[in-house]
Amino acid sequence: MQLSMGLRSMGYRWWSCSVVISLVVMAVASGMTGADAARAFFVFGDSLVDNGNNNYLATTARADTPPYGIDYPTRRPTGRFSNGYNIPDFISQELGAESTLPYLSPELTGERLLVGANFASAGIGILNDTGIQFVNIIRIFRQLEYFREYQQRVSALIGEVEARRLVSGSLVLITLGGNDFVNNYYLVPFSARSRQFALPDYVKYLISEYKKILRRLYDLGARRVLVTGTGPLGCVPAELAMRSRNGECSAELQRAASLFNPQLVQMLSQLNGEIGSNVFIGANTQRMSNDFISNPTAFGFITSKVACCGQGPYNGLGLCTVASNLCPNRDVYAFWDPFHPTQRANGLIVQQIMSGTTEYMYPMNLSTALALDRALASSLN
Ligand SMILES: *[C@@H]1O[C@H](CO)[C@@H](O)[C@H](O)[C@H]1NC(C)=O
Ligand SMILES: *[C@@H]1O[C@H](CO)[C@@H](O)[C@H](O)[C@H]1NC(C)=O
Repeated sequence: MQLSMGLRSMGYRWWSCSVVISLVVMAVASGMTGADAARAFFVFGDSLVDNGNNNYLATTARADTPPYGIDYPTRRPTGRFSNGYNIPDFISQELGAESTLPYLSPELTGERLLVGANFASAGIGILNDTGIQFVNIIRIFRQLEYFREYQQRVSALIGEVEARRLVSGSLVLITLGGNDFVNNYYLVPFSARSRQFALPDYVKYLISEYKKILRRLYDLGARRVLVTGTGPLGCVPAELAMRSRNGECSAELQRAASLFNPQLVQMLSQLNGEIGSNVFIGANTQRMSNDFISNPTAFGFITSKVACCGQGPYNGLGLCTVASNLCPNRDVYAFWDPFHPTQRANGLIVQQIMSGTTEYMYPMNLSTALALDRALASSLN
């Protein structure tokens, strides 16, 4: 079953025969199965999608101690800001691939490079001055620089032409923006950015800077890019603990998210127009999360206000550590720690990304996009 699926997906490939053959030779030589030949996957962004890069950095933005990872197959912390899998892990599963390794992992060598790589780093934002309190993190321009370096390494492995095909045939995920509010504009009262910009102008500025980043990603060869919006910034347990009197979401942060997300979709549509192809796909993650925030029980959660791991009101204060309160059943909580969804919530978000209607996905859902790409690939074969 596994093997026949792998062979079938190889048949759809837009890679030339010689690449397929050389990959098969490599796969056989290294004892890999057909499933390892799934489309490559690259991840950029912040803690929502970091698979463990920050473990290799001198930074305070890390998730490398228990109880992080308590529901991961190894039951150990990995650097993911989740009790188990995060959004990129579920997307990898949809692609029929193993999870991407952090780019800084020493294990990311040889044919494992062909699976893709995760460049994300907790704490970063669209702007270079976002997350400066975390000191040593991989800002987005550095992540893009690493992507270029990655391509050189892959070229050395399979040749320049095939490396370019691997990248243009890949799926890219990028998640940015939340920290530009939480860890910049709203980090302290009267922050430098909030004195410089009124909120609507700040959002415009973020969108214009984000557009440059996405352009750069395109210039580096990405041809199918999934862009997520910010989550429901004002409703996370941390904001409930710090800003809410009666458990209502912070109106100011919700306003930030509702200004940012529609303008992001507008910008993606512009960019697709300029390129002349729907390269960029937008996921309305605010709306997806709002569904289970406004009606948690419909999704099997007992609460969307209280974090599973934390302390203080809503378990929303400070960090999730061994000393924190820890809920016994992580699957009935929407939030794992004061800022990040549980593994189960991440899985629900990816289900919507895969098969959501156009209210959630611009201009189409990911399963439609992947099917289009496969059809195009087989017509080129
Ligand atoms: C952020 O830094 C990069 C270089 O690391 C630079 O190219 C870019 O222009 C900077 N962005 C802004 C808005 O200053
Ligand atoms: C999204 O994907 C599913 C397949 O999983 C498809 O049946 C559905 O029509 C798609 N929805 C839209 C609005 O494109």
